[in-house]
This record gives sequence, structure tokens and C-alpha cells, in this order.
Amino acid sequence: MDKHVMIEKARALVEKIEDLPTIPAVATQVLQLIDQPDVQIEEVADLMLTDQVMTARVMKMINSPVYKPEHEVTSLKRALIFLGLRHIREIALTTSFIGAFESDKGALDISSFWEHSFGVGMVSKIIAKKIGYADLENAYIAGIIHDLGEVFLSNFMRDEFQTVLDSIQGKPIKLLDAELEYFGTTHAEIGLCMAQKWNFPPLYCEVIALHHSPDQAMVDPVLCAIVNLADLFCGVRGLNYGDREWVSFNLSEEEGWQILKKQSPALADLDVERFCYELDDAIPDVKELVNSIFKSES
Ligand SMILES: [Fe+2]
Ligand SMILES: [Fe+2]
Repeated sequence: MDKHVMIEKARALVEKIEDLPTIPAVATQVLQLIDQPDVQIEEVADLMLTDQVMTARVMKMINSPVYKPEHEVTSLKRALIFLGLRHIREIALTTSFIGAFESDKGALDISSFWEHSFGVGMVSKIIAKKIGYADLENAYIAGIIHDLGEVFLSNFMRDEFQTVLDSIQGKPIKLLDAELEYFGTTHAEIGLCMAQKWNFPPLYCEVIALHHSPDQAMVDPVLCAIVNLADLFCGVRGLNYGDREWVSFNLSEEEGWQILKKQSPALADLDVERFCYELDDAIPDVKELVNSIFKSES
């Protein structure tokens, strides 16, 4: 189907929803502040403290297995110093993304959604490191937000999406294909429309739109390919929306793999099986992270 038609259909669906969540203003301000030269950690801390929910989440994330501090970090300022400015961008974006979609009323189970998202984020970061991709934080963020459109379908088109989910249960049909057949568009185009509404940088918009077709990417095909493969990997390793989706892939046939091999020729000699074990090691951390962020919040 024509991509433009799919995007127009997605835009119509997104425009229909009046109470679409927004990214908190503080997150946007934090991101702008971090980009300024000579920014002081104190300034960032003061700004973040104006948003209690974000502060609480930062504290939880910093004490989670992903960042592994030696001792529990109890003050926001100390947390920010420990993280450094680059990680603050990552935290501000991801915590506000979580905040926008906390509802437990969607068709997808929210914690398996976050397990998938953070799983893809962490695996993206590991792949990025392996191939020498310059910005590991970008890979992590892009992984976390790649399925933005699924949350939209789950929360705002609950019944229709439930029908789609039920229709593929136990069948070898990809969720993406089922969405296209039912809605005439998919979570990739819907996510793109939301990301544009939220003024996400073009880099992230592209990953959201093309993580299932990285060969079409123009802005950063390598990043799209990283997230594409991380997504497939998490799909076959149980971080797949509680087994909702059927996933099967053969690495050597994937477009994403071809793109990465061009970027990093050394990958041709990679022991794929061993690398998969390396990725497997990240999975318990993902589960613990999601647990630590959401426990005692519901
Ligand atoms: Fe997806
Ligand atoms: Fe995904």
C-alpha cells in the first residue's frame, strides 16, 4: 500500500482523539536547557524538581540495575551528577514518555509493553556499541519509543485493537500486517503522526516510522536498522507484549542486518549465537528495571 495514504489515514485517526496525552512542559524545557553551552547541573536539578513525578522516576531509574550505582542515590542533584548531562536527556525523555501513557486501561498489558520497549532500548544500545555507533544514548531512547503507535492503538482504539490482537492469537501472522489489513495503516505511521505532534527530532520520528522497514530510512538508516534488529530479537526472546505477537526471522536475510554489515564490516565475522547469549544477559535487567519503575506506583 502507498505509504502516503497510510500516513494520511494515521493522521486522521490521531486527529480524532481530543484528549491525546502531551509530553510535560518540564521535559521539553530540560531538553532545551541541556543543549545550552555552560549549563550547570544545579539549574537542571532545580527545573526537574518542579515536576515531582519526573523527580520520583529519575530517582527510581537511577537506583535500578541499568545504572548500577554502588550505593543508593538519595538526592536528585547527586543522581544527576552521577548520570552526567548526556544521560539526563535520556531520562527526561523516557520518564515523560512513560508519564504520558500510564493508563492501565489499554488492550495491551502495560508492564509487558514497557518490558518490550525498555528491552528494545537496552538491546539497541548493546548493538550500537558492538558496531561502533556514535551515540549510544540515542540508540537507547530510539529503542524505548519505537512502538509509540502501539500505545495509541491500545489506549485510544481499544476495542478495534483488541479485535486485531485476538484475530492473530496463535497464528503465524505479524501484528503489523494485521493492523494494515484492519486499519489501512499501522502503528508505525500512527506513531510518526504522534511524534510529529510532540515535536520529536526528525531522527526519532524516522525510527518510529521505519523500524519495520529500515531500508527506506534517509536520516539515519543505521539507527533504524539497530532498532529493527533489537525489536526482532526481543520478539523471539519473550519481550513481545506477553506473547501477543508472532515473530520469526533469519538474521542474514534481514535488511537491517545488511545495513549494519555495511556500516561495520567486522560484523560479517561475528559469532551470532554468542552475541545472542550476550543480549540474553540484558533481559533480567530489563524486567528488574520495569519492575523498579512501576512498583508502588499503581
Ligand atoms: Fe513496531
Ligand atoms: Fe516493537
